[in-house]
Amino acid sequence: MKKTSLWKEDADASAYPPLQNDLHVDVAIIGGGMTGLTAAHLLAGAGKSVALLEAWRVGGGTTGFSTGNLYATVEERMHAICSKFDSETAHAVAASRTAAIGHIENLVHRLAIDCDFHRRPWRLISEIPQNNKILEKEFHACREAGLDAYLETSTPLPFDISRALRIENQAQFNPMRYAKALAAEIIKAGGSVFERTPVLRIKEGSPHSLYTENGTVTADKIIHATHSPKGVRFVHTLMGVHREYAIAVKLNSNNYPEGIFWVMSRPHQHSIRAYTDSRGESFLLVLGEPHKVGHKKDNESCFRNLEAYAGARFDVKSVDYRWSAQNYRSADGLPYIGALDEKTGVYIATGFATDGLTYGTLAAMIISDLILDNENPWAKLYDPRRHNPLKSAGRFIKENVHVFMDYMHDLPYRAEAKIVSDIRPDEGKTVVIKGEKFAVYRDEAGVLHQVSAVCTHMKCIVNWNAEAKSWDCPCHGSRFTVDGRVIEGPAMIDLPKPETGKPH
Ligand code: FES
Repeated sequence: MKKTSLWKEDADASAYPPLQNDLHVDVAIIGGGMTGLTAAHLLAGAGKSVALLEAWRVGGGTTGFSTGNLYATVEERMHAICSKFDSETAHAVAASRTAAIGHIENLVHRLAIDCDFHRRPWRLISEIPQNNKILEKEFHACREAGLDAYLETSTPLPFDISRALRIENQAQFNPMRYAKALAAEIIKAGGSVFERTPVLRIKEGSPHSLYTENGTVTADKIIHATHSPKGVRFVHTLMGVHREYAIAVKLNSNNYPEGIFWVMSRPHQHSIRAYTDSRGESFLLVLGEPHKVGHKKDNESCFRNLEAYAGARFDVKSVDYRWSAQNYRSADGLPYIGALDEKTGVYIATGFATDGLTYGTLAAMIISDLILDNENPWAKLYDPRRHNPLKSAGRFIKENVHVFMDYMHDLPYRAEAKIVSDIRPDEGKTVVIKGEKFAVYRDEAGVLHQVSAVCTHMKCIVNWNAEAKSWDCPCHGSRFTVDGRVIEGPAMIDLPKPETGKPH
């Protein structure tokens, strides 16, 4: 069983150089996932000079750990959008997301991108009659939103259901192959792509300066396409950060159902889809088991639960892949896309929940239009400066209570191990040594990896993630390797190592 995503295995490796010199461009884009790549492609195609700076590899962040599903509806549910806002808003959400899927489809055809793009139905499934009421509510909301929705009592799935809601003409693809192809197109359009180039510091001004290890990019505009914007921003207080888990299994029957399936479960839902890779091998992907980042000790149990869930419904032959990914949920159920301040030309795209492939594309379309002074019909709807205190209050209070509790948990600080020798091989724990808080991992060979346990974003204490072998911050979702390198999240600075010679 491979501890990586199916998509990463089924796409050629990219090899763009790190930035090695200073550069001036019209637009600097931080992050090489769906949002950054699509924006860079649109802007370079419109004649702007563009530099895309990716800390790791193109598509290697959340895009490469996604479902590969594209749909007009949202995880939040359309009936929730209707009741928080109104049916006009739900209609605009569906129309804007449909346009984003259309943008991907057009590119796939125009540029002949080999990424297994197919139009497929999306289904929300109620296995038990108790869930039918909510399913019917969602059906009516989808119809109000202008979606081609139907109710049915049978599906291609091999287990009994009570009712299903079907929306026609949604889509699926291989997100990594699409991302790699877009990166190549950016270069053809005259843009620059730099991999292994984390941005270490940003000085906003005129122009903005983005400092990296071996060069500085100055730019008139910056797009934060990093899933959650870098640095300290108010928008971080509006979002909840969650991790979700995925497995890809093979079936004995070879009977892989086509389409996107969201099966209602308590307390969350499971997402199911099939995929046949470039070697002709088919897999069933099962995703779910979300929890707040840094809030689950035994996160290996999430995979065990997914395996049990799949085993109870399908004739599973083997579990071949497993991975996890992070998502950010906005306070009012809509993402934050657009300018933080038009005068300064800083743009963000965040709060996509688990709907990021479609929202990422839409965000790139909106932000590109804003930069190019084109009208965009949805820019106002997703404006990050919108003020919806009543629609946001519940989740805003809940998320900030969680952050406050995380701070309180650290005061007085309770170390998980008294001394470093208490930490066993392949175990990570926090320790206080001479009044300083450290995050210490002992690898399988017994070698200690010690870094500061104080998150470099806003000083929460990081927690050990046993499944991903990372240090995760429960406050706003920054994640770090065992050697302290930023993996994702708003932090830009690595967790410092103890001063040389300290007796740890
Ligand atoms: Fe904000 Fe760690 S991510 S304090």
